[in-house]
Amino acid sequence: MTKAPIRVAITGAAGQIGYALLPRIASGAMFGPDQPVILQLIEIPVEAAMNALKGVAMELDDCAFPLLQGMVLTSDVNEGFKDVNYALLVGSKPRGPGMERGDLIKENGPIFTGQGRAINDHAARDCRTVVVGNPCNTNALIAMHSAPDLPDNQFSAMTRLDQNRAMAQLATKAGVHSSEVTDAIIWGNHSATQVPDYKNTKIGGKSAQEVIGDMDWLQGEFFTTVQKRGAAIIAARGLSSAMSAANGLVDHVRDLYMGCEGIRSMCVPSDGSYGVTEGLISSFPVHCTGNNNYEIVQGLELDDFLKARIESTVAELAGEKEVVADLLGASA
Ligand code: NAD
Ligand code: LMR
Repeated sequence: MTKAPIRVAITGAAGQIGYALLPRIASGAMFGPDQPVILQLIEIPVEAAMNALKGVAMELDDCAFPLLQGMVLTSDVNEGFKDVNYALLVGSKPRGPGMERGDLIKENGPIFTGQGRAINDHAARDCRTVVVGNPCNTNALIAMHSAPDLPDNQFSAMTRLDQNRAMAQLATKAGVHSSEVTDAIIWGNHSATQVPDYKNTKIGGKSAQEVIGDMDWLQGEFFTTVQKRGAAIIAARGLSSAMSAANGLVDHVRDLYMGCEGIRSMCVPSDGSYGVTEGLISSFPVHCTGNNNYEIVQGLELDDFLKARIESTVAELAGEKEVVADLLGASA
């Protein structure tokens, strides 16, 4: 029997990430090869953006994807989020050279109040919202606070791209394929303070720390390469990452939807685990248990270097929360 379609809203659908993301969703990479989808594509109410969106939809038509059962093109968030099972919040301004992601907070933050409210009022009650638009942890916090009727654990933000970056760096250093790197963990903020965990990440089933055996590299070049990879892509391409960002989002949603073995990194509301201030949306090691559910992995050991850096990245998240306090409403 044919499955009922999943409705997926994508904001900023005519942007760079949208262009790399939509064919992956429509071809089954996100929800599986037998799962039909309806794409609800949201853009800003500006002629150029809506025209670009029409062009993207024409190309999707021209792909004749068997799983694509319909498209909605709109600049009205109430229509765009109507009955959706997934809300992928990509639409927002990317940073340029010399900027930090946090510099976008005042401009991008307000986008997520209206979108959060529309998700609250119009999405399916089990809708999962994933925020990509930067600064994604704090934007997810804003969306979550704007949707008080939905459980907090239905909101997450993306550090899967950072996880994948860490896997690639460790694999290159160890001279193995990236598939040998498992349980790759990013802690904290999707920013230059994020913490790639060399102790609990594994290569060939053993701690990366043990396999690499070079603490100077792990705490130095490895750390800064992963933390600053977004800026390096911008410097090289003149534009922020799009293909790898879309791929990270496909990985994030697929694992959340289907469940998976091992540890993944996701920014989720903190329950106080590992001393991360409760209520912040911070990247944690999670087990995806299937059916769109996850659990924060407990009991991992950290060394003093990692603990100190987790404290710093959490302090940065707390600072971002203060900056957007006016967008969090009475529930903050
Ligand atoms: P882009 O400029 O190419 O596209 C953004 C699109 O969003 C544009 O088409 C724009 O019209 C649209 N948009 C802006 N405001 C909107 C709104 N309120 N509602 C709907 N659409 C809106 O940018 P991009 O390269 O696709 O990047 C999008 C965002 O993703 C940026 O904030 C970027 O920094 C972020 N990003 C995050 C990660 C991550 O790992 N979390 C990775 C890459 C990029
Ligand atoms: C990334 O990590 O590539 C994105 O967050 C874009 C950026 O600004 O670095």
